[in-house]
Amino acid sequence: MPAFWHWFITVGTILFTIWCIWLISWSAKQGPHNIADDEVVGHKWDGDLEEWNNPAPRWWLYFYFGTIVWAIGYMIAYPGLGNWDGLLGWSQLGQYEEEMQDAADRYEPIYARFAAMGFAELKQDPDALQLGASLYASYCTTCHGSDARGATGYPNLADKDWLWGGTELAITTSIRQGRNGIMPVLAPALGGDAGVNNMVAYVRSLGGLAEADADAMSAQPMFVALCSACHNADGTGNPLFGAPDLTDEIWLHGSSEAAVHATIVQGRTSLMPAHGELLGENRSKILAAYVASLSAK
Ligand code: HEC
Ligand code: HEC
Repeated sequence: MPAFWHWFITVGTILFTIWCIWLISWSAKQGPHNIADDEVVGHKWDGDLEEWNNPAPRWWLYFYFGTIVWAIGYMIAYPGLGNWDGLLGWSQLGQYEEEMQDAADRYEPIYARFAAMGFAELKQDPDALQLGASLYASYCTTCHGSDARGATGYPNLADKDWLWGGTELAITTSIRQGRNGIMPVLAPALGGDAGVNNMVAYVRSLGGLAEADADAMSAQPMFVALCSACHNADGTGNPLFGAPDLTDEIWLHGSSEAAVHATIVQGRTSLMPAHGELLGENRSKILAAYVASLSAK
C-alpha cells in the first residue's frame, strides 16, 4: 500500500476511534442530575409525543465501550491499520495458502496412488472411477450430457464409436489438447443442387438410410475424389481428422436428408476445448479412464 494511503487509513482510524471514546465518555457524564426533569429536546410527534433529554442507559454505554475495546484489540492483533501486519501475523493470502496446503495434504496421497496406476487398472478401480465421475460432472456435462450420451453436435462418450479414437492416448489427447472437427464447405465443388442432392442420397445410402439408386451412385466418383481423403473411400471415416464413419447408424449432426444436406452445404465445425491446463495431468488421466470405462460396459 502506498505511504499516503497507509497514513490516511491509520490516522483516520485512530482519530475516529478517539472521537468515539470522547463521544461516549461525554454522553456517559450526562446524568439525570445534569438536566432539569422537564427538559425536552423540542421534537414533537403526533401532537403530544415529546422527546426527553435523558442520558443513554448504562448497559448500553458499557456495551458501546466494549465494542471500542474490541476494535482496538482487533486492530492490534490483525492487519487493519494501513500497512500494519498485526501481532498475530494473520493474512488473507496466508489463510488461502494454508487451506490449499491442507487440501494438498489430503488429496495428494489419493492422487499419488492413482498416478502410480496404469490406465487399464484405473479403468477398474472403483475409487478412481468415482473420482472420475465427479470430475466429469463438474467439467463435462454441459456439453456431453450428464449420462455422457451427448447431443446433436456433441459426441456420445458412452458408446464404442469414436471420432478421434478410443485408445488411452486418443482419449487423453482429446481431453488435454481439445479437438477441432472441421468438415469443409464442399457444395460448390459438387456442381449445383442436383450434385448436392445426389451426394446427400449417396451418403445416406452408405448408412442404409436411402436406396443406392442411379442418382445416388452417380455421386460415388465425386465422393472418392472429394471426400475420401478424410472419410475414406468406403466412407468409414478417419480418426486422424476426426472424420466420422458415414456407414454406421451413429450421426453427429443428424441423419435426415435436411441435416446431411446442411452438413455438405454449410460445412460443420465442432470444438472440444482443451482441458489439460485446467485439469492437470493426473485428473486428465483419471477422467480419460472414466470415459473409457463408460464404453467398456
Ligand atoms: C464446450 C463443450 C465441451 C466441453 C465442456 C467438453 N467437450 Fe468434449 N467434445 C466437445 C465436442 C463438440 C466434441 C467433438 C469434437 C469434434 O467434433 O471433433 C468433443 C469431443 C470429445 C471427445 C472425443 C470423442 C470422440 O468420439 O473421439 C472426448 C473424449 C471428449 N470430448 C471428452 C470430454 C471430457 C472428458 C470433457 C470434460 C473434461 C469434455 N469433453 C468437455 C465439446 C465439449
Ligand atoms: C478435410 C476433411 C474432410 C473432407 C474432405 C470431408 N469431410 Fe465430411 N467431415 C469431416 C469432419 C472432420 C467431420 C466431423 C465434423 C465435426 O466434428 O463436427 C465431417 C462430418 C461429415 C458429415 C456428418 C456426419 C455425422 O455423423 O453427422 C457428413 C455427412 C460428411 N462429413 C460428409 C462429407 C462429404 C459428402 C464429403 C465430400 C463431399 C466430405 N464429408 C468431405 C471431414 C471432412
